[in-house]
Amino acid sequence: MKPRAAGRFAGLPLPAWLIMLSSVPLLGGVARLLHLSSGDPPAAEALRFAIAPLPVTLHIIAATFYCLVGAFQFDSGLQCRWLALHRLLGRLTVVCGLVVGLTGLWMTLASEIPSGLQGELLRVVRVAVAASMVAFLVLGVMAIRAGQVRRHLAWMARAYALAQGAGTQALLLLPPTLAFGEITGLVRDLAMTAAWLLNLWVVEWVLAQPAQAPVARRAVGTRGQA
Ligand code: HEM
Repeated sequence: MKPRAAGRFAGLPLPAWLIMLSSVPLLGGVARLLHLSSGDPPAAEALRFAIAPLPVTLHIIAATFYCLVGAFQFDSGLQCRWLALHRLLGRLTVVCGLVVGLTGLWMTLASEIPSGLQGELLRVVRVAVAASMVAFLVLGVMAIRAGQVRRHLAWMARAYALAQGAGTQALLLLPPTLAFGEITGLVRDLAMTAAWLLNLWVVEWVLAQPAQAPVARRAVGTRGQA
């Protein structure tokens, strides 16, 4: 039977969907880095990035690698055929994921983010998301070191889903932004939070599907266990 995680959805393989989901924040990141490196005077709304370019630069570079390479890490077909590559890229992806979470936490707590773009709700949620992402990655590494493949897959999927909140946020916020202009305040906080919750719900639903077990076992051969 064809493994579910290697399946196609509406004719496209899973990595293609994941890369499409991340495309808006990744393109935004490229634009931000180009602007920061251009030497042009920053606009008022981007001053915080010019004052402290390190966290946002690390954040964007790590997020780009994490989203793009991470998308292929969940393809069980590639896991089966290229296990050594999966392991090598997995180590790099975990490091990048940790950098994404920690720099996200850094900016949440230390950056002068205008209250319209980050109210108290979003601040608390971002701290929780960043801390959870780091914790999930650590749990994922611990699981695979203990030979627990299904648990490894589950924790890594949860960490990736949290990171991909950036893509879902873009999807949720783009239509109202195009219709009404920039969305700020509590509505924005709620939309950002909803995107993370939606991603977590989707990943838990996928993990609950029975086809995950054989996929995980086949990917790592005899070491597979819960
Ligand atoms: C891997 C997926 C992610 C991508 C692609 C991504 C992308 C970006 C980009 C491009 C920026 C710069 C925004 C701008 O130029 O205006 C940014 C900022 C930021 N990101 Fe992420 N991010 C990701 C995950 C996360 C996570 C998991 C957190 C956890 C809390 C986070 C927290 C932040 C914060 C706090 C800022 C600063 C926002 C501001 O100053 O307005 N990001 N991110």
